[in-house]
Amino acid sequence: MNWLNQQSSQDNDIQNNIIQSGKLPRHLAVIMDGNGRWAVERKFSRTAGHREGIESVRDIVKASSQLGIQYLTLYAFSIENWKRPVSEVSVLMKLLEHFLKAELNELHENKVRINTIGKISSLPQNVQKLLHDSIEKTKDNEGLTLTLALSYSGRWDIVRSVQMIALDIRRGKVSPEDISEDLFSSYLQTSKIPDPDLLIRTSGEMRLSNFLIWELAYSEIYITDKFWPEFRRTDLYESIMNYQKRERRFGKTSDQIAIENNNKESESYISRVVNAFKIK
Ligand code: FPP
Repeated sequence: MNWLNQQSSQDNDIQNNIIQSGKLPRHLAVIMDGNGRWAVERKFSRTAGHREGIESVRDIVKASSQLGIQYLTLYAFSIENWKRPVSEVSVLMKLLEHFLKAELNELHENKVRINTIGKISSLPQNVQKLLHDSIEKTKDNEGLTLTLALSYSGRWDIVRSVQMIALDIRRGKVSPEDISEDLFSSYLQTSKIPDPDLLIRTSGEMRLSNFLIWELAYSEIYITDKFWPEFRRTDLYESIMNYQKRERRFGKTSDQIAIENNNKESESYISRVVNAFKIK
């Protein structure tokens, strides 16, 4: 099913409004928190919370793809989550397996490229195989890159990168003087994706929980009180509209940013005029 043909005209209008009213985040990262509390508040089992959380995953993936967002990274399971009761971990692995089996064809049809970050070798064999096959099947897709952070933690990735740099120094491939932010980033598992522009965290908690701690250095953060199972496309739209009102200064002043934007506008105007007069 092609997601672009599936939209209501009202939803399509809202998305077009968002696209026209400012920049979309190129990379959206999400800490999907509050499945357990959502379930407990309703006297359901925590499993029911995770199950409903998958419905939110489906809706947010679809809406992000329809909007034309290029990268979506979901924090689905942290290294620290292994400390949860075995029964809950096993349900989460089963849900992940079910999600991949049920959604792969539709994700592929909609040009989604599946990617993972994290210590994938610690996941159950069947999940590893499914992930491997999903990545392989979708590797040439040019739509949304959906990165699932699984058995992931930011510090783990940083330590892993430091070890790899140390090994490359020992092999003579890198010298300590070469180490820069760019070189360090190139060793992270996220090296092929840009840093997130916007981080969304649900359930009102104000922390990063070891998610992309290097990559989020200059990201805009949006925190909502809604629990993840309640977070659907209209909440995504709200977060993006909020993002579009922000001024990203990257350490510069407001005046400098205004001058840069003016220069960019003039350059794009000049190139449009030049192109219009080019003989085809
Ligand atoms: C946090 O809620 C959520 C998780 C640890 C798991 C997130 C997983 C899913 C939404 C389903 C599987 C994902 C994919 C991509 C198929 P919590 O359990 O910590 O909630 P609480 O803080 O209220 O207890």
